Amino acid sequence: MSKSPDRLVILTGAGISAESGLPTFRGADGLWEGHRVEDVASPVAFARDPELVHRFYNLRRAALRTVEPNAAHLALARLEAAWRGSFLLVTQNVDDLHDRAGSRRLLHMHGELIRARCKACRHGWEWRDDLSPDSICPSCGKSGRVRPDIVWFGEEPLHLGEIFDALSRASLFIAIGTSGHVYPAAGFVDVARGAGARAIEINLADTAASAAFDERRTGPATDLVPALVEELLAAQSVG
Ligand code: OAD
Repeated sequence: MSKSPDRLVILTGAGISAESGLPTFRGADGLWEGHRVEDVASPVAFARDPELVHRFYNLRRAALRTVEPNAAHLALARLEAAWRGSFLLVTQNVDDLHDRAGSRRLLHMHGELIRARCKACRHGWEWRDDLSPDSICPSCGKSGRVRPDIVWFGEEPLHLGEIFDALSRASLFIAIGTSGHVYPAAGFVDVARGAGARAIEINLADTAASAAFDERRTGPATDLVPALVEELLAAQSVG
């Protein structure tokens, strides 16, 4: 990498957490109790069977307690700390592994497992235990209206203004471990490239979005992300 790109936007998906032990959505082990993700991750699903939806997220929240950030999460935190240009890490992941690795310029565009939200009064709060239809909102005191603070299918992702603003100024866009199936995230590469950014994809395999990238690096995130971070920091030091 010859010239040091200084305005960096990085998008991560479930693949970056796979080697920590969290299953991806569309992998062979990506379905839960025979349901499609859309069937447990939508407002319609929650209205139809809140217990099932809570159970799905309770299991995933509990799984967070058994996993740790891996070398790829840690490398991105190291990059952020040493990067002299602008930096934004956007994750579609609802796990807290980037946070625990030390990432700070981080936006969770699909929400967070460790937060709950009240449908009645919109209050949101940190919550690491199980939720159920009997859970009570600490702000308005209502039960039956508490939901995971997760963006479901049919709902608008979070922080889009800030994300598109960063994409429109980016000089380097990197997508890591995401299948390119879910919009708007799958279209970020086009926005960044439209603004003149170079785009690199890191994934175990080709994805639905691969053709849009300038460069593809194929392999596990725990190998390829630390290597790319070292390259970027080396280029910065001579740039
Ligand atoms: P997917 O499960 O769709 O894709 C995971 C990607 O990670 C695949 O392209 C894999 O090839 C890749 N992958 C797996 N292991 C990897 C590894 N060790 N190193 C590198 N790559 C690896 O997950 P996402 O693209 O994150 O949304 O899914 C996007 C959204 O769809 C999720 O945020 C979620 C889901 O439905 C909502 O819940 C709203």
